[in-house]
Amino acid sequence: MQPILDRLEQLCQEALRQIQNAAEPVVLEGLRVQYLGRKGKLAEFTAQMGQIPQADRPAVGDAINRVKQTVTTAFQERQAGFSARPPGKQFAFDITLPGIPQPIGHLHPLTQVIEQICEVFKGLGFVVVEGPEIETDRYNFEALNIPADHPSRDSFDTFYLEGGEYLLRSQTSTVQIRMMEKTKPPLAIVAPGKVFRPDAVDASHSFMFHQIEGLLVDKGVTFSHLKGALDLFAKRLFGKETKIRFRPHYFPFTEPSAEVDVSCLLCQGKGCSVCGRKGWLEIMGAGMVHPNVFRAVGYDPKKYTGFAFGMGIERIAMLKYGIEDIRLFFENDVRFLEQF
Ligand code: PHE
Repeated sequence: MQPILDRLEQLCQEALRQIQNAAEPVVLEGLRVQYLGRKGKLAEFTAQMGQIPQADRPAVGDAINRVKQTVTTAFQERQAGFSARPPGKQFAFDITLPGIPQPIGHLHPLTQVIEQICEVFKGLGFVVVEGPEIETDRYNFEALNIPADHPSRDSFDTFYLEGGEYLLRSQTSTVQIRMMEKTKPPLAIVAPGKVFRPDAVDASHSFMFHQIEGLLVDKGVTFSHLKGALDLFAKRLFGKETKIRFRPHYFPFTEPSAEVDVSCLLCQGKGCSVCGRKGWLEIMGAGMVHPNVFRAVGYDPKKYTGFAFGMGIERIAMLKYGIEDIRLFFENDVRFLEQF
């Protein structure tokens, strides 16, 4: 009897060692079939029971059952270990390696500048709105006090769409009219967006560029409100030391009108090549809303006054970041764009 008990013990030790060393679940399952399966090694012992003397059978049967128990328990424990924490070898790759970073984009520099400008005016209580890029004569000209035969139309060169009824807006001042038509005063809005002019493309001109329009209407609005708002805007956007100055100008939709300069960001007003030795950089047009514009939208010019301004985004972004060619904004060259 002893030899068969020895062989059982040997089988048990071997099974335990192999189960312990099983590196992955498939190997473990193979061992389970090999030892505990219907035609497995333990089943072979059971099949041999007939050849064992009657008197020894209970002892051998007991031994087989004990080995079966021990191996089954070892098998279950090893399997539980796999589901709790998969060892590295189970995978074809090392899950502890850092991942491959995916390049994610960011906002276009013009979008960033638009957002910065809008933030400043939102802080002053202005609401950000938008208007359509395809417009009619009324919004781009007529209601802005630029009648059909008025010579100032020439200074707002315009793309007309086929048929002549529609045009691509040449200024965001169109949004002044659209907002006043659907809102009663008081109102304070800024309106960023694309504008179009048939200009030859060069380092400072593009047939499409961006403007941001501002309009504030209420009772008792004066020119000093305009100056105060724009002074604060310039300091917030370009830095505390920035100064502004107003030069008299003409726009059909404002009276009085001005062009607004900021002290040169590069030389702080001393005079350099960027500001053409003047110490000042022109950044926008502005003025008090013309009474005829109020009449065109049904506002009473005796009751209300207001100010408006409009600036080119590309120009501001170029000054702010020292960009020398407007075409860089539109060429989609990642080497340029990723610097912002
Ligand atoms: N619309 C003018 C332009 O495109 C700018 C402007 C806006 C001037 C509002 C005065 C008031 O040049």
